[in-house]
Amino acid sequence: MGEKINAGIIGVGSAVPDKVLTNADLEKIVDTSDEWIRNMTGILERRVAAEGEATSDYAAKAARVALERAGLEPKDIDLIIVATITGDVIFPATASIVQNAIGAKCPAFDLSAGCSGWVYALSVANGFVSSGIYKRVLVIGADLLTSVTNWTDRSTCVLFGDGAGAAIVSEVEPGTGFLAFELGSDGSGAQSLCAPAGGSREPLTHESLDAQRNKLMMEGREVFKFAVKVQGEAAERVLAKIGLTTADIDLMIPHQANMRIIDSAVNRLGLPPEKIFVNLQKYGNTSAASIPLALDEAIQTGRVKKGDTILTVGFGAGLTWGAGVMKWAY
Ligand code: ACO
Repeated sequence: MGEKINAGIIGVGSAVPDKVLTNADLEKIVDTSDEWIRNMTGILERRVAAEGEATSDYAAKAARVALERAGLEPKDIDLIIVATITGDVIFPATASIVQNAIGAKCPAFDLSAGCSGWVYALSVANGFVSSGIYKRVLVIGADLLTSVTNWTDRSTCVLFGDGAGAAIVSEVEPGTGFLAFELGSDGSGAQSLCAPAGGSREPLTHESLDAQRNKLMMEGREVFKFAVKVQGEAAERVLAKIGLTTADIDLMIPHQANMRIIDSAVNRLGLPPEKIFVNLQKYGNTSAASIPLALDEAIQTGRVKKGDTILTVGFGAGLTWGAGVMKWAY
């Protein structure tokens, strides 16, 4: 291990299910309205995986696109990290299943940090690449949140959707790539966003299944307040680390949870709305997939150019948060 290597993203891909679930569809499932969902969240529709599909299916699809765009083959990858809270099974890791599906031969592990998982995973990949331990790391954020959605709970079932996003992290030109990360966790809020049953604390029983305690439960107000606070704080802290201000940011890609949370960034950080990328209206909250899904769309629609300074901020279960700044390398 010699000098520090400059690490950054050299290819991005994403994948979502074909099936669209609109707010009008949800009106038929729970006591809600298109108007309430639009006004309270900004979400218009979300994607839902077909029966029998699993997180690794979309993770592998997104990975293949990212590899192709980076001009690489699966054999070129030295490590796979999958950020997810809805792995195919409790064990083994979804990353190992993806590794086999795409035909890679390398170490692989999952990382659990809820909707912050993508930023966490990028920072881990940055550590491996910049220290010279691995040359090319495949980072995937993938979740099928509808697999843990309680479709009788109107306060949560309208919020979430399924998808995956992937990026290849490798050495990039000096002056580009990752500039700084800021990660955090406050486990005192663990209960406010969780699936209580199905783990070692509360193994599944007929009773817990009947009560849907293996599904996502959320104290919406608490999580909302937390999200608004840490989104602003994490963004300010990561920028301060490298002596930048929001005026230096070309594009912010926040976790796509709720339009009202994103709007609070406009007010607190003073970023004009056109510098904040939003696609939650089409996908809802896709957890670890949300930032790479937005990043991929931003790249494909010409919103990201070489040399742009991009700010990403995630927050979610844990409770966790993570912010990253990068200078786009291609
Ligand atoms: N349709 C119609 N009415 C509803 C719905 C719905 N889908 N859901 C809740 N309501 C009602 C409630 O019953 C309540 O009615 P009441 O006043 O008669 O009791 C009213 O709307 C207000 O409910 P609140 O939950 O207090 O509304 P709030 O302003 O908190 O908004 C929301 C709810 C949108 C869920 C908000 O709390 C939120 O966005 N929280 C953050 C969620 C989030 O982003 N979580 C993900 C974090 S990332 C991760 O890791 C998964």
